[in-house]
Amino acid sequence: MALGKLISPLASVLLLELDSKFALETVCPISLWSFSAFFIDMANSKYEYVKSFEVEDEIMLPNIIVVHIDGRDFGRFSEVHEFVKPNDKRALELMNDCAKTVSEQFPDIIFSYGFSNEYSFVFKKETKFYQRRASKVLSLIISYFSSLYVTKWKEFFPQTGMRFPPSFQSQVISCASMEVLQAYLAWRQRECHLSNQYNTCLWELIRNGKSEKEAQEILKGTHKQDKNELLYQGFNINYKEQETIFRQGTCILKTEVQHIVKYNQDGSPVQRLRMKAIKVHSKNIASRSFWNDYLCLCRELGQFAEDVNKIKPDYVKSFLHVSKLMPSTWIVIRVDGCHFHRFSDVHEFEKPNDAQALNLMNSCAVGVLEEFKDIVFSYGVSDEYSFVLKKESQLYQRRSSEIVSAIVSLFSSMYTIKWKEFFPQKELKHVPYFDGRAVCYPTSEILLDYLAWRQVDCHINNQYNTCFWMLVKSGKSKSEAQNYLKGTQSQEKNELLMRLSGIIDYYNTLPLMFRQGSSVFWHTHDDKKMSNQGNEAVGKCCKVVVEHCNIIEKSFWEAHPDILGEKFSCCKSLGCTFALDSHHLTRRVTCCDCKVAKFARSDSLSLLEQPSTNCL
Ligand code: GTP
Ligand code: MG
Repeated sequence: MALGKLISPLASVLLLELDSKFALETVCPISLWSFSAFFIDMANSKYEYVKSFEVEDEIMLPNIIVVHIDGRDFGRFSEVHEFVKPNDKRALELMNDCAKTVSEQFPDIIFSYGFSNEYSFVFKKETKFYQRRASKVLSLIISYFSSLYVTKWKEFFPQTGMRFPPSFQSQVISCASMEVLQAYLAWRQRECHLSNQYNTCLWELIRNGKSEKEAQEILKGTHKQDKNELLYQGFNINYKEQETIFRQGTCILKTEVQHIVKYNQDGSPVQRLRMKAIKVHSKNIASRSFWNDYLCLCRELGQFAEDVNKIKPDYVKSFLHVSKLMPSTWIVIRVDGCHFHRFSDVHEFEKPNDAQALNLMNSCAVGVLEEFKDIVFSYGVSDEYSFVLKKESQLYQRRSSEIVSAIVSLFSSMYTIKWKEFFPQKELKHVPYFDGRAVCYPTSEILLDYLAWRQVDCHINNQYNTCFWMLVKSGKSKSEAQNYLKGTQSQEKNELLMRLSGIIDYYNTLPLMFRQGSSVFWHTHDDKKMSNQGNEAVGKCCKVVVEHCNIIEKSFWEAHPDILGEKFSCCKSLGCTFALDSHHLTRRVTCCDCKVAKFARSDSLSLLEQPSTNCL
């Protein structure tokens, strides 16, 4: 549930005034799902103060926003999926196709550039995309990209099943001027060239009998010219004749094309100008001659005044929008479905609750907990999930953008991969995507109030929605049902439900998952197993569980002291290693405490469903 909507009707009106198109899309669903709940929410406002911990991260005008995305652990991903070395053209084309669709989906993206497993998206100067909030902007782009990567995979790799969900990380570069943008693009294209030249040499040497280590040794300290000569003399390769997609990377830019919208009665076409995304390769994307030739780039971003002579990466890096999360605080990453009102309509989710849709969300949350060992608890309801990272977490040195993007990206690609498992009869018609943000809570009490706030919200919305849809099913129109419920208190709603259903205490007969949301956490339990000597030994085992329980009551936290305790009784606090063996057919799960390794087949996605088993 998008929390912005619950802030206040006044805030919604303000939003409407600021940007009517943007606000209209987001404000409309509130009336149906949570508007009257808002008033009850006010009565239950004990926990609402937690909202004040959310911080704004707006990228101010006139900075140009660039979102840089980069594959997470892509070395392993490419290894497992047997990408051709040093360049797999299908993998590059898949990246390019995703980037093209991203730039078509978000019209404010004017230019993109990518190579290997990275892409940079440049927004038009005056963009108001998600009101320029860094975490929203980067999470939406990375989420959409990740879901697309999974969706388009089969098109580019028809013979290769996807073994595990790909994920990406992103950062925002806040370019203070056109010169900074130019320096940034020049730097990324030089990186493309240098890494491609190095990798081409490396893999030629390996193909010709050298070990990876020997090849690296040979290339140590070599210059551009040396490498070109090595390729030419040693392997008869003219580097300049290599495919441009490898040497230069790929640009996606918008051009204006005439588009026929209809025909007049006399048969003459009615044309409109439309922006079309096209793929281009160019030797020097930061040169004046390339850039200034494109009308759209000059109009939406500006011209390049001079050519870049010297590339200074440190200078460019100083424009990275780095926001470090406060040390020794609980970090909550909240992920929320984007336009899920529409998404749930298109996919005909059951109203007001679709158990399968919620189970899919829960399954993705389990996957996220298994991947990021610093997450100690998560709570989900509707299209949102909150992930709590332990206070002392040093994940990505507590850099907000990396943590948010990695979690949102993994969640999104898992949602897309697992869709078929939960909806075998339904085709995925829209790309599912989520936004994310990070909020720090300084004490356990405040963290628990945050979680209580979300659970109260779950109850309020669920009770309202159950009443609403029951009224609609009984023959009322949507607006009649809405008016009927306006201003009703919880007790009145319960009575209404009993009257309409004819069942005493009807609300409490609804599944716990609908009423209490879902809590996902590590559960430690005793596990009997045989030792090498054949004796039965009792060890500890921990796995991720999904429960539907009351987390507002302190008794839940007392019954599970491990969740927020500073000391964990299980090896999860140290992190377990999940490594693939050389044949990629098994996954090795090593407990960091006892160093016992277990093996599990990893040749199918079903592996993702297995709980991680760790032993003490
Ligand atoms: P943004 O988050 O601002 O993009 O808006 P949104 O459309 O995603 O709406 P919001 O996050 O406020 O609320 C989630 C929406 O998802 C609900 O209003 C419902 O329309 C829909 N939704 C979530 N879970 C279910 C479900 O189980 N069944 C049905 N029918 N709809 C659901
Ligand atoms: Mg949403």
